[in-house]
Amino acid sequence: MRKVSDILRVAVSALAVLTAPAFAEMAGEKEYMVACSGCHGESGMGDGPLAGLLNIKTPNLTTLAAEKGEGKFPFEWVLWMVDGRKIIRAHGSTMPIWGERYQASANSQRGETAEMVARGRMLSLVYYLETIQQ
Ligand code: HEC
Repeated sequence: MRKVSDILRVAVSALAVLTAPAFAEMAGEKEYMVACSGCHGESGMGDGPLAGLLNIKTPNLTTLAAEKGEGKFPFEWVLWMVDGRKIIRAHGSTMPIWGERYQASANSQRGETAEMVARGRMLSLVYYLETIQQ
């Protein structure tokens, strides 16, 4: 017979899997308000207080599915845009290379690599962006 602790462990990890996107979304929203809303706006419409100071237009992030994915949220593309290490962005872009920043500032405590920490932060941001599509 299985021990109660085993059953509990399975239940807890199942719950973690089920609720992970929801937690990621919440973390992503917080991170978004701190790191992104200055330019992209609290609503994501590209109307943050810094947007007017940039020499290129700050994109509306609530229409990514409609404009970039033909109705489907282009998850991977958005992730690479945020990451910025592999995609060459618009010329003169002021958008920070978040992949580099998050990796450099990663404070790995549970044995993750800096890359894992950076990816986790970017993934939560993308999960959040997915929820604000019009
Ligand atoms: C200093 C202003 C600034 C900040 C801060 C900023 N962005 Fe951007 N972002 C831009 C500009 C300008 C562009 C458009 C030019 C480009 O593609 O680089 C852009 C492009 C993007 C794109 C591609 C959208 C498209 O339609 O091309 C995504 C996705 C994005 N930003 C997400 C984020 C996220 C997530 C954060 C916070 C972690 C963030 N941005 C922070 C200015 C900013």
